[in-house]
Amino acid sequence: MWALAPFLARGFAQCGIAEISKDWQKVVMTSLTDINFSSVRPRRSVLSVPAGNHRALEKVRNLDCDAVIFDLEDSVAPEKKAEARENLRGLFKEKPLQGVERIVRINALETEFGRADMDLAVEISPDVVLIPKVEHVAEVQSVADILSEAGAPDDLAIWAMIETPKGVLNASVIAAADERLKCFVVGLNDLRKETGVLSQPGRAYLVPWLMQIVLAGRAHGIDVIDSVFNDFRDTEALEAECRQGRAMGFSGKMLIHPTQIELANRHFGPDPKAVKDAETIIAAFAEPEARHLNVINLNGRMVERLHLAEAEKLVAKAKFLAERKKSS
Ligand code: COA
Ligand code: MG
Repeated sequence: MWALAPFLARGFAQCGIAEISKDWQKVVMTSLTDINFSSVRPRRSVLSVPAGNHRALEKVRNLDCDAVIFDLEDSVAPEKKAEARENLRGLFKEKPLQGVERIVRINALETEFGRADMDLAVEISPDVVLIPKVEHVAEVQSVADILSEAGAPDDLAIWAMIETPKGVLNASVIAAADERLKCFVVGLNDLRKETGVLSQPGRAYLVPWLMQIVLAGRAHGIDVIDSVFNDFRDTEALEAECRQGRAMGFSGKMLIHPTQIELANRHFGPDPKAVKDAETIIAAFAEPEARHLNVINLNGRMVERLHLAEAEKLVAKAKFLAERKKSS
């Protein structure tokens, strides 16, 4: 657990929220039992912003999303890639984004743009490099090698987009590719294109693949983010998909438009009732007579220590969000 401290401190220092950093370490050191950082870091709303779009880039500081993907890949035309990199160079020189995980989506290394994107990533040092269309372990390892050889900090993470048939089939080995890999992001636009599966409410024919990706990620302790929902004016359909994604075990949703943030935060965020319940569980296990018990009777409900661990994670996440709100 102590080994986590510098990692946690950097994560929160990057948020620019000193109180959270201190608070966080206090929470971790004093009350959490067996929690890794990625299971507590909120990733409810992960907004993609085309790095070529000045107006959208300017808006990012005022949005309440947990993470921003600065996209150099598919949303940027080939002739605009260099300009998009310049935009990010400028943005990262300005004052840090408050409380937001900063992700740069590169073009795949085998494309003509990949290497220059990686050079930029090493230079500006975001929190995460997101690799698109990952199909094999080697693609993650190549990016990890470039980061390590360039002396990038150990906690500069890698995320992988799973958005091709081979990516889905290989998800369980990809998830264990490298220690820097912290998260999968599902990309259904590409997956539908590659497989011919239609876009339908309920995603019935995609659910088995989605669950396979969730399972692969969870087996290796990494987060999994649900795909974008294209029709950004259809809030009712987005809400249904957020509800479904949450029930399937996703940590959050990749978004394409600011109007989608509030819904994702609401559906993937800690439910206030669940947080209250979690506090009751923590208090019950803190009673002296429960100290040596692995299972207790909480008002007619069996509660085990595994529920305590879950409760602690939930309360820590709620605390993080409350502190971020206070300092924004
Ligand atoms: N991030 C930040 N701001 C955004 C945004 C985003 N992803 N999408 C839209 N906005 C801003 C617009 O700049 C606009 O700002 P303004 O009112 O100051 O002019 C405002 O939100 C309203 O936008 P709207 O007019 O409704 O949409 P649009 O036509 O500007 O953009 C899209 C629509 C789909 C082109 C745009 O949302 C987008 O590019 N999304 C991300 C696409 C992407 O990243 N794809 C790759 C991953 S799948
Ligand atoms: Mg894609």
